[in-house]
Amino acid sequence: MPITIEKLSPHVGARITLDPARIGDPAMTEALRRAFADHGVLLFPRIGTSPDIHVALSRCFGRLQVHPVNRNQVEGFPEVVDMSYTPPRRPGDLSYHAVYRIEGRELAGWLPWHFDLSYMAEINHGSMLRALEVPPEGGRTGFMDRIRLYELLPDDLKRRIEGLDVVYRFQPDMMKRRYCRPADMALVAPSMKAGMFDGDVLDRDFPPVAHPMVYTDRDSGRKVLNVAPLFAVGIVGMDDPKGDALLGAVIDHCCTADFAYFHRWAVGDMIIWDNWRALHSAEGVPPHHPRRMQRTSLAGDYGLGRVLGKV
Ligand SMILES: [Fe+2]
Repeated sequence: MPITIEKLSPHVGARITLDPARIGDPAMTEALRRAFADHGVLLFPRIGTSPDIHVALSRCFGRLQVHPVNRNQVEGFPEVVDMSYTPPRRPGDLSYHAVYRIEGRELAGWLPWHFDLSYMAEINHGSMLRALEVPPEGGRTGFMDRIRLYELLPDDLKRRIEGLDVVYRFQPDMMKRRYCRPADMALVAPSMKAGMFDGDVLDRDFPPVAHPMVYTDRDSGRKVLNVAPLFAVGIVGMDDPKGDALLGAVIDHCCTADFAYFHRWAVGDMIIWDNWRALHSAEGVPPHHPRRMQRTSLAGDYGLGRVLGKV
């Protein structure tokens, strides 16, 4: 076998070991694609720190997005975006990530369960993260498999959500979000980007979009629980307490930590996830610890999202 595959956790993912010198070999690429289709989340422990190997490995899974004008683009690598957290240099300075206090801990870069771009009609196929500097505590990334989440959903909820769509709206201010806001959460320091998104900008640039609550994976024929808790605001046509309760019940299911794998990063680790199938979350880091991560993204769209226009 050109790669070895081990289960990563009871409900999600696989750990892959391979010979980096053979990346690009057609038999290895075929095996990697099959593993990606089977598991949705693949960990490559300590495989390398260079953007070259990151790009080469990412390309095994499909066409990469190129970011021609992106301030976070890594120089010389238009497919690689920097996702690092850097602590403010002076007290009172703002960083690229907001800092929140949650359950008594201050955390920068905390993000609850989501798939990327849920607030857009087009959803890209996936992303691969690479760790370059990890904090001594915190900084874990959580993953869940939405095919498995559908299998684990009680039959009663499966029946009630069939054929429904979820509405999503981009809202950078966590304190204004409808779901995934812990009761004891407080904003400690806003992101330096916070002022860019007033209500007019959000209305103009981020109209509400809808995605089906369940869809069938084209390759496997298995059903995917297509709910991203982070930016969800309601169910189409159910703008009432019944709809709120139904979505709340599904979101509670999607936030069940027992169904998740939380990765504590080591330098050189890479993880790719299928954004059409996995949820991920960011635990956040203590604000004084830097965390250096870079990311590539797989291009594509699953074709089921739609813009709803103004509401
Ligand atoms: Fe994300």
